[in-house]
Amino acid sequence: MPTVRVTRRAHFCSAHRLYRQDWSDEQNREVFGDCSNPNWHGHNYILDVTVEGPVDPGTGFVMDLKALKYAMKERVVDEVDHRNLNLEVSWLEGMMPSTENVAVAIWNRIAEVMPDGVRLHRVFLQETANNSAEYLGRDGE
Ligand code: NI
Repeated sequence: MPTVRVTRRAHFCSAHRLYRQDWSDEQNREVFGDCSNPNWHGHNYILDVTVEGPVDPGTGFVMDLKALKYAMKERVVDEVDHRNLNLEVSWLEGMMPSTENVAVAIWNRIAEVMPDGVRLHRVFLQETANNSAEYLGRDGE
């Protein structure tokens, strides 16, 4: 059976601020730039989730993309869309909401609901047209 990767895309809009409380506003601005604005700011995020598995001969699918769509909606988008990532999302609490960290947190949310025989392959999170992060589920490399 061929192994294929399939990808589903979702969009969300969220506010955040990258900063360390133990640093001055100047220090934060130097390291985090515009993302450290003390009065928050927003991004239009693009989220691509890629899963991998054998193609089911009966359906021709690796996974029903409607199921992936609902997993992304219920586990991620409904929780972060039009919210403040620093203040309003329990599974990001205490975390610097960088693109990297949010991508890993999204991986963990989606991995919990993967059906049998389907492997989560990639979480790609784009914060701006020029900045994005990708997580392939590997730690410590
Ligand atoms: Ni930002």
